[in-house]
Amino acid sequence: MKASEIRSTFLKFFESKGHQIVASSPVVPGDDPTLLFTNAGMNQFKDVFLGFDKRPYSRATTSQKCIRAGGKHNDLDNVGYTARHHTFFEMLGNFSFGDYFKHDAISFAWELLTEHFRLPKDKLWVTVYSEDDEAYDIWNRIVGVPAERIVRIGDNKGGRYLSDNFWMMGDTGPCGPCTEIFYDHGPDVAGGPPGSPDEDGDRYIEVWNNVFMQFNRTEDGVMHPLPKPSVDTGMGLERITAVLQHVHSNYEIDLFVALLAAAKNAVDFAAGVTDGTAGCDAASPSLKVIADHIRACSFTIVDGVIPGNEGRGYVLRRIARRAIRHGYKLGARTPFFHTLVHPLAVQMGEAYPELRQNADRIFAVLKQEEERFFQTIANGMEILDGALAALDGAGVSRLDGDTAFKLHDTYGFPVDLTADVCRERDMTVDTAGFDAAMNRQREQARAAGKFKMAAGLEYSGAPTTFHGYEHLSCETSQVVAVYVDGSSVESARAGDDAVIVLDHTPFYAESGGQVGDTGELRNGTSRVVVEDTIRIQADVFGQHGRIVEGEVRVGDRLVARVDAERRARIVRNHSATHLMHKALREVLGSHVQQKGSLVNAERTRFDFVHNAPMSDEQIRRVEALVNAEVLANAAAQSQVMGIDDAQKTGAMMLFGEKYGETVRVLSIGSTKELCGGTHVSRTGDIGLFKIVAESGVAAGVRRVEAVTGDNALAYLQGLESTVGSVAGALKAAPTELTARIGGLQEQLRALEKEVIALKGKLASSQGDELMAQAVDLNGVKVLAAVLEGADAATLRTTMDQLKNKLKTAAIVLAAVDGAKVQLAAGVTADVIGRLKAGELVNFVAQQVGGKGGGKPDLAMAGGTDASKLAGALASVQAWVGERV
Ligand code: ALA
Repeated sequence: MKASEIRSTFLKFFESKGHQIVASSPVVPGDDPTLLFTNAGMNQFKDVFLGFDKRPYSRATTSQKCIRAGGKHNDLDNVGYTARHHTFFEMLGNFSFGDYFKHDAISFAWELLTEHFRLPKDKLWVTVYSEDDEAYDIWNRIVGVPAERIVRIGDNKGGRYLSDNFWMMGDTGPCGPCTEIFYDHGPDVAGGPPGSPDEDGDRYIEVWNNVFMQFNRTEDGVMHPLPKPSVDTGMGLERITAVLQHVHSNYEIDLFVALLAAAKNAVDFAAGVTDGTAGCDAASPSLKVIADHIRACSFTIVDGVIPGNEGRGYVLRRIARRAIRHGYKLGARTPFFHTLVHPLAVQMGEAYPELRQNADRIFAVLKQEEERFFQTIANGMEILDGALAALDGAGVSRLDGDTAFKLHDTYGFPVDLTADVCRERDMTVDTAGFDAAMNRQREQARAAGKFKMAAGLEYSGAPTTFHGYEHLSCETSQVVAVYVDGSSVESARAGDDAVIVLDHTPFYAESGGQVGDTGELRNGTSRVVVEDTIRIQADVFGQHGRIVEGEVRVGDRLVARVDAERRARIVRNHSATHLMHKALREVLGSHVQQKGSLVNAERTRFDFVHNAPMSDEQIRRVEALVNAEVLANAAAQSQVMGIDDAQKTGAMMLFGEKYGETVRVLSIGSTKELCGGTHVSRTGDIGLFKIVAESGVAAGVRRVEAVTGDNALAYLQGLESTVGSVAGALKAAPTELTARIGGLQEQLRALEKEVIALKGKLASSQGDELMAQAVDLNGVKVLAAVLEGADAATLRTTMDQLKNKLKTAAIVLAAVDGAKVQLAAGVTADVIGRLKAGELVNFVAQQVGGKGGGKPDLAMAGGTDASKLAGALASVQAWVGERV
């Protein structure tokens, strides 16, 4: 059975048992910042298990794309070392949401495995959670699995409920005891049954896990019973396929065979093996690593991740670089990894069409990452090899943290890549030493930045109370701290550049891409012009500006007033950004993810994941969607709530963003995002939204800039006035411009042709006159003359004509443009034995401050000093005379 048939047999089996077939969710969970990647089929049903979400079905079945390369379930380090671990794999699952429970789950699993997949019953082993007598009895008495093949597993991982047979999605969330089904690959393969000391071998392989969801674990570690006991199961497609295809390594199944061959080809090509020799060992574990990693990298990029230095982007970078290093180990010296994207799309594009649709973008993103890493990998490997050889010589088996850190910092070697190399040589890395070196560097960077950064200002008072969501002024704000030149002071005087902290303020401090407010602080005697507002700490704002009158002392009371007009422009841009983000996802696809944003009084700049430049049509559709929301003039609403509740609202969250315990959920138009920024009251306040620029900032990342309100009007008026003045100059109505310009361009092309023809004629008539000036030296006609108004092309044509007419000749022609001189020297074929055009042109060019060269019969040169030209031309006769 092919993997694709196994996938569909599974789904159809459960469909026949009343299950709804549900599509895989993305590998990047869009609305769950607690989860790095989708790591199990149940992720998309988390809220259904918890009772927060209802579906029209109570039974579901999926084939889910999963990544286990970080977070609670991490198999990255095992890939390449075992027959059954992957960073990316497909999980087949069936789910009951308060419908059936243990009995049916177990019966379904047994029926599918033994009757449809026809696995011999005596090859199947099962485990149950030690306290789960119910599951034990179902297996033993109802299904009939003999007691010797049922293993009870308790809390074997050092704590209550920490067990191979108690499954948790993460540190929080739905969980419960589970029963696992194992397949015995037979005595030829090393390894012991589950629960035995050598259970980690490859003989007894877990193929299916049935979890009986009973609890929700909260952050405090408390297990709350779920509203309705449920079922969540997961069977790795690759593992069951290996069993059914009678191979004992997942890498021998049909899904991997072609991919491994493509990996070998790509590596061999990049290693310079093109002469038909065998290349690298086809059985090398490194090829398995590469074949596995191209799947994980491609599927994460599909869902909008790009390589970076933190969060999901860093996991992707680590996986990609680990694969590249394995290729390097096999001899690849140029980028190869990205070339596997299309072969992968051929293998898996049928089941996951998003892979085909995004193949070019994935290719470009990986290519850039790979080119980058290839710049440092050779030097890094040399250092690592050197260090390991020295340690080996000294009988030490642990690489020091400083070297690992240097490899990370200078050569871009993620520490787990270094560990992977060490492991191949039976060595380890001092990860604690690595962490210490990393922390030292962070401290140094922090200390170095202290003088420049407001974040370095020492402050230990109460947090600032921010009123700026509702008000643009506070009448009696009290000064709680003043800083001049980075130090805390009691007072600042007129002329000082100061940062002032107030107890209450309407000034928004820069964050989340929105710039800080400007405005004024004043009382009867003093005035401060605020040029920016910054965050000294997360909740302490500093007004940064110049004291223009009087003095500001700690304890003073001031009226704080935000520049309302500027603020209004900023909020229009910020609200438009939310609407635009949603519209971009609608027009371009859900892989669009924010990569950065800047919102100021002029415009909004938004960077996001997408592979290709936006077409004019796409830009217009985004503009139309946003402006439709503006016209709907819906009221914006914000609500402060706990992060868990916020998640339930389905608000857009950005992974990697540090959200506090309580967050602000902002709804504008049809959008909902977590956002601390300031916004319009109604979408209509935005006025008009217009995209003004679209560009690329890195592989797979685009940037859109847009304007709103009066800025949009000013932009359009600017365009209108440009069009107006162009129309005026052309004496045409704006609507006729396109046709008129087309006509002019045509006219211009016709004129250019005419000019060329005329120049030719002019040159030949000059050529006739010039012939008379030629001097005969020993049968060679010598001519050196200036050609009025000629360019290089005319010099050449005239030269040809003169050579034809003079028959045996040495000629220099010059054209003058200001101080610049163009020279051409020509020698007829019968003379080049005695003198060369290149030498002749150089001889002349040197005298006018230039040089040049060319063929023996025709050479060109330039010069910069036209005042010497007459003398230089006059010297030609003598020069030729010496040679003929
Ligand atoms: N969620 C369970 C697992 O991933 C089925 O093993």
